[in-house]
Amino acid sequence: MASIQALVASFFLVFAVSATALPTQVYPLSSPSSLSVGFYKYTCPPAEAIVRATLYEAFSSDPGLAADFLRMYFHDCFVRGCDASILLNSTKGNTAEKDSPVNNPSLEGFDVIDQAKARLEAACPRTVSCADIIAFAARDSVFKAGRIYYDVPSGRRDGRISRASEVIQNLPPPTFTVPQLIANFARKGFSMDEMVTLSGAHSIGSSHCLSFSNRLYSFNATHKQDPLLDPKYAAFLKTKCPQGNSKTDPKVALDSITPNTLDNKYYQQLLTYRGLFSSDEALYTSKLTKGMVLNNAKYGRVWGPKFVKAMVKLGSLDVLTGQQGEIRKVCGAVN
Ligand code: HEM
Ligand SMILES: *[C@@H]1O[C@H](CO)[C@@H](O)[C@H](O)[C@H]1NC(C)=O
Ligand SMILES: *[C@@H]1O[C@H](CO)[C@@H](O)[C@H](O)[C@H]1NC(C)=O
Repeated sequence: MASIQALVASFFLVFAVSATALPTQVYPLSSPSSLSVGFYKYTCPPAEAIVRATLYEAFSSDPGLAADFLRMYFHDCFVRGCDASILLNSTKGNTAEKDSPVNNPSLEGFDVIDQAKARLEAACPRTVSCADIIAFAARDSVFKAGRIYYDVPSGRRDGRISRASEVIQNLPPPTFTVPQLIANFARKGFSMDEMVTLSGAHSIGSSHCLSFSNRLYSFNATHKQDPLLDPKYAAFLKTKCPQGNSKTDPKVALDSITPNTLDNKYYQQLLTYRGLFSSDEALYTSKLTKGMVLNNAKYGRVWGPKFVKAMVKLGSLDVLTGQQGEIRKVCGAVN
């Protein structure tokens, strides 16, 4: 033991000596530990309260926004890391993530984030990153919709690049099979159980008909309607999403019983074949993940803390910290 410790110690000693001896720039590593809870405690004490107040004002007229901020966080972090690349507007010659068909027009709430940023700039200029605003907004949305609270490690910085083409390369479509979902999340360092746990976010919000209407009208060569969709639920969905109505493309609640409550009822719906996307229902029908769905359906008190843990982990994906990136002045454009 002693010799191992000595070895480890001498390794760090050599590392420290060479690091000070050489005039090299040391870039901070982006590991989860590089973020910290209360990062703005001294530089901008009201930061988190300003974000929360701005969001709650918006929630009072549109409670559905909580789902948007939760989804925004996922879509920011899975594409180029949690660097607020989702918030950048397209420019001449560059279509940004925001304008990928995956996000436009279904993802909303950008104006609320812009408003929070404007208030933060007034209180503490050039201090709070847009990437952290998204992470705080996701946390506040989880609390608003689920009464589940957690602390958000912060200190992220904003990126300067956003490309629409990277969205479909990184985010899973609602037609994915379980092995495809597992592979997609594994690329970002998430386990199968974490993937199933995070999918519980689909217990709030809504979806455009186009994201699942293939299950109603054109499933495959032998089945027009997905046999893994409860026929009564399918009939209900058909009234909401009439065939050939792709121009108006209305929205349907992901969880038709408690659309604004974040809880484990999402998993209970899967047991009765009322998952809206085939990627949701597959979590129950696949042998790989069925047990996890059953557990989450049964034990909401186990799912909640697992969800929080996975959300915090999601927020550490490929973050920019220290001197990397920048603190944007406005979230829609680079400085
Ligand atoms: C597991 C793979 C996932 C797939 C295939 C998927 C796919 C989708 C699709 C297609 C929509 C509907 C978009 C529309 O047509 O309006 C949606 C909505 C949503 N997703 Fe996911 N998603 C996944 C995981 C996640 C995760 C991990 C989160 C957050 C932690 C999340 C949060 C949401 C929320 C809250 C909505 C509702 C948005 C609203 O009401 O505006 N999703 N998702
Ligand atoms: C259509 O889907 C059903 C149910 O998932 C499946 O059993 C069947 O093999 C599929 N048919 C084709 C032609 O893919
Ligand atoms: C980004 O685009 C939105 C919508 O077009 C607009 O309201 C906002 O002011 C733009 N932001 C910047 C920084 O250009």
